[in-house]
Amino acid sequence: MADGLALGKFHHISVVVSDIDAAMKGNSRYFGIRQWSVRNFEADRLPGSPDSGFISAVGSSDSFTLELLQPLTPDSPHAAFRSWRGEGMSHAVSRCSPVEAQLLQRQLDQRGIGYSHQLNLDGKVRSLQIDSRPHLSGLGLEVQVDEAGGFDGLPVNRVVNYEFLPILPVDKLYHVGIVVNDRQQAMENFRELLDFPEFLPMDLEVGTSLSSVIYKGESVDHSAQVAFSRANGFCFEIMQPGSGHGAYQEFQQQYGQGMQHFFPTICDQSVFDAAIPQLQDVGVDVTLKGVIDGVMNYYYLSTEQLLGGVTIEVICPHEDAWMEVMGMTPEQGYLIGL
Ligand SMILES: [Fe+2]
Repeated sequence: MADGLALGKFHHISVVVSDIDAAMKGNSRYFGIRQWSVRNFEADRLPGSPDSGFISAVGSSDSFTLELLQPLTPDSPHAAFRSWRGEGMSHAVSRCSPVEAQLLQRQLDQRGIGYSHQLNLDGKVRSLQIDSRPHLSGLGLEVQVDEAGGFDGLPVNRVVNYEFLPILPVDKLYHVGIVVNDRQQAMENFRELLDFPEFLPMDLEVGTSLSSVIYKGESVDHSAQVAFSRANGFCFEIMQPGSGHGAYQEFQQQYGQGMQHFFPTICDQSVFDAAIPQLQDVGVDVTLKGVIDGVMNYYYLSTEQLLGGVTIEVICPHEDAWMEVMGMTPEQGYLIGL
């Protein structure tokens, strides 16, 4: 097959929210993000798109960048997502050169894939929003073309500062987990479009590869077929829900496919336990606890309200050599995002 799409390098995940000020504060409270650059794109800042409008807030921790997007009109590029999904992770954003953008256009034409929106921010910087959701299990892709000073050079309407410390250690964005209907098909499509190498597949099931799963306070049977891969700064876990119950099954029933979790933290169990009261102070509980005896506890947190529809995953290894205990090579660890 031909090379993957000329998307350039992954830059950040975009989260569609309903109240951008609440979401900035919540994300700063959780991640310790100190500053947000807020841009209002509407009217003459979106030439050729008179009915569109949205607010963008870009903030960075020490190791990753997030963009919050609040649609202002029904024709905003992000309004359709919010109407069916509500708040949540909408798309991955990469940045490419003008030459790569030309190649990308040809590759999309060859594959019969269009753009859902083509914006010309301030008449200077193209934001190409690829109609990728049908091909990538609900994942949207936006490419910002590095031209005329790039997105970061566009005028900022306001800067918002916060002084919070992160509640849990923030290592980096290891990966984003995507609920898919068909792991095999998703692996093929992600490899073709995102130029991913081989996926690392894992079959998870309580009683065999998982010791236990507690979901919303109840011990559940749960199984899933997952797989990990990584290229050009993108790193995804794809998860096909299996029998039983759990976070993936519930996501699939509610939303179908799409980005389900954001994984930024591997920490000692003692650090996680000590953070529980602070998490509860901001309305965050543990939704799911999974245990792989001798390897790790993993958690999903009810951060959706605080962060704008985003579920956080945290891993607490049982010992330093947890990867070796799992029989995982450093190359396989890389595919997981380590
Ligand atoms: Fe994950």
